[in-house]
Amino acid sequence: LASLECDLSSIEPGSTVTVKWHGKPVFIWHRTEEDIKLAHSVDIHSLRDPEEAAARVKKPEWLVVVGVCTHLGCIPLPNAGDFGGWFCPCHGSHYDISGRIRKGPAPYNLVVPPYIFLDENKLLGE
Ligand code: FES
Repeated sequence: LASLECDLSSIEPGSTVTVKWHGKPVFIWHRTEEDIKLAHSVDIHSLRDPEEAAARVKKPEWLVVVGVCTHLGCIPLPNAGDFGGWFCPCHGSHYDISGRIRKGPAPYNLVVPPYIFLDENKLLGE
């Protein structure tokens, strides 16, 4: 399968883009300092699928997750829901600013795909 190279330089802090990667949407969120603080403020013991915010990113300011709801596969909406991340309109799953499931029927966090940074502003999805 082809890898995907993505130039991040035009993505403003606080905004998110969707790219297509192996036939699936992948969300790339350029997080602000506030977003990062919010991500780290969560007690992971309160999470359904407990994962540290730091374990889900390679750089704190960039969150990269597969845009497929872990419930039944709908595409969640960005900047929506009760936790500053995504909301899946199909059955009401709320994901936070780290793509972690916080409320609703989805069992798992949004998946982090394999990727590396080629340089400061270039990401390679593998
Ligand atoms: Fe997302 Fe059901 S598919 S909540």
